[in-house]
Amino acid sequence: MKKFKIAVIPGDGIGTEVINEGIKVLKKIEELEPSISFEFETFPWGCEYYLKTGKMMDENGMEILKNFDAIYLGAVGFPGVPDHISLWDLLLRIRKGFDQYINIRPVKLLKGAPCPLKDVKREEIDMLFIRENSEGEYAGAGDWLFKGKPNEVVLQTGVFSRKGTERVIRYAYEIARKEGKTLTSISKANALNYSMVFWDEVFQEVGKEYPDVKTYSYLVDAAAMFMVKDPKRFEVVVTSNLFGDILTDLGAAIAGGMGLAAGANLNPEKEFPSMFEPIHGSAPDIAGKEISNPLASIWSVSQMMDFFGYEDWGKKVLDAIEELLVEGKTLTPDLGGTAKTSEIGEAINKILEKK
Ligand code: NAD
Ligand code: IPM
Ligand code: MN
Repeated sequence: MKKFKIAVIPGDGIGTEVINEGIKVLKKIEELEPSISFEFETFPWGCEYYLKTGKMMDENGMEILKNFDAIYLGAVGFPGVPDHISLWDLLLRIRKGFDQYINIRPVKLLKGAPCPLKDVKREEIDMLFIRENSEGEYAGAGDWLFKGKPNEVVLQTGVFSRKGTERVIRYAYEIARKEGKTLTSISKANALNYSMVFWDEVFQEVGKEYPDVKTYSYLVDAAAMFMVKDPKRFEVVVTSNLFGDILTDLGAAIAGGMGLAAGANLNPEKEFPSMFEPIHGSAPDIAGKEISNPLASIWSVSQMMDFFGYEDWGKKVLDAIEELLVEGKTLTPDLGGTAKTSEIGEAINKILEKK
């Protein structure tokens, strides 16, 4: 029997709604798979907690989380707490503190999922984004000088270390090799004349060890255009922290919407726990209405099962999501249905029971 300890951080807004459905699915897996057991512990950290305590997480929160096999997170951020505080003190603190330097974000148009693009075949939208997740534009290095004065100056410095750049690029080459897919690097060396020139050089350099992997390199502006006009160009993609953030929301838009976009924040060495989450935010505009789509959150359960070495369950969960979409009967309003958030986990579990 393998036992996995999962720290649950529902967070804010729809985070709490969608995470419940993912937990239902994890409990169903536990019930159906005799060799797995889960132990859940839920932490009330987030913006409400901040308004009560002045902190986004417990003082020793990172110490506590360290003992878990995985973290399952809903979403963080809500009006009333400045975003740069809520996100830096919780989500980004975990990603950075646990050196979750790989962010895996599939952009795959499942059967039955809506797509706004014309003249594109379903199977042509099947990308795997590998986003640098520990430094780059998100290094948090900078300064704010002469605040409020006429000579006010703000600095936000990108930090691209050799170690940080090489490891994410190498990880992407390994995946492309393993899956027999092409690898595309997305950067911006024409304007960012230090960081992205370096990124491109490292991409070339590491590539020498992978002569079998066919590569492409795009500027980020052109890449955004091609993702819409000719998405089949992209298979495995590696890019920086900020570009990966932006392009995967674009990816969500062409692959069924924010309710179907999942992400895994991995510390591949397993020195620290990895974290699984939908890529969307707390959606204050629909929070509390019970209409949020939890399928992204459930897709991240599939990623968690892959990471635990239960790829069969990872596949079953993803197949169940696809079946639900094809059936089209139990869907939330963003996908054209009338179902409530709380009906989705159960509907997925019914499909899983038949698998
Ligand atoms: P958002 O992703 O929360 O919402 C963007 C739009 O997509 C909204 O119209 C929302 O209703 C819709 N949407 C998102 N997820 C949905 C779902 N599961 N089902 C149906 N519709 C969905 O982005 P935002 O509005 O820019 O940000 C809101 C807050 O969330 C901010 O505080 C932001 O900083 C934070 N945020 C957190 C995370 C995270 O925790 N990982 C990610 C992104 C944004
Ligand atoms: C995401 C989010 C975060 C990011 C924010 C909330 C800091 O947008 O996970 O995509 O930019 O990484
Ligand atoms: Mn984002």
